[in-house]
Amino acid sequence: MAVTPADMPQVMVIGHPLVQHKLTLLRQKQTSTGEFRRLAREISLLMAYELTRDLPLEFTAIETPLEPMQAPILAGKKLCIVTILRAGDGIAEGMLDLVPSARVGHIGLYRDPETLEPVEYYLKLPEDVGERLVIVVDPMLATGHSAAAALARLKQAGATQLRFACLLAAPEGIAVLTAAHPDVPVFTCAIDRELDSHAYIRPGLGDAGDRLFGTK
Ligand code: URA
Repeated sequence: MAVTPADMPQVMVIGHPLVQHKLTLLRQKQTSTGEFRRLAREISLLMAYELTRDLPLEFTAIETPLEPMQAPILAGKKLCIVTILRAGDGIAEGMLDLVPSARVGHIGLYRDPETLEPVEYYLKLPEDVGERLVIVVDPMLATGHSAAAALARLKQAGATQLRFACLLAAPEGIAVLTAAHPDVPVFTCAIDRELDSHAYIRPGLGDAGDRLFGTK
């Protein structure tokens, strides 16, 4: 169950009750690192279910214990998950639980302290990324600058079929991302109120990387 807000045709909010329940637990400050990681993984698995809803199928001949039949299987190359380091890794894990044969790419970006522009420090993608559906993952769509830069880099590398998935989005991040990439559907579990002056999403869940990896 994904709902598109009337004024954001490119955005799908995953309103499934299990996703919303788990997201509430994830947000709570008393949620431990282990529990946070487990919840993020479970939500990501459920997100992957929505993200892959329209994958094309083809028919193949199989034999059941009783008789031959034509049965549906996924058509074409398996999808590729690209994680924006480092917090994206916490999302990729849950998606891989559901789509274990997906390829995984990584992109690392940091913000130049002077220009404030995202600078790429790491990129590793499957060679045939242009032939796959690519799901770019980052738990928090905050300013939208890293996500927009990652999508631009993937397009430059040949990706043509892209989707972006996050746990939480700020309205500011959605505006930046959809303006830069009007062709890329955005999936999120919630659109929060705003960004604060430190570019944290409010009410949010804090620093997703620190909470996933227990670094603070
Ligand atoms: N990144 C985070 O981890 N949290 C935010 O609220 C914003 C960006």
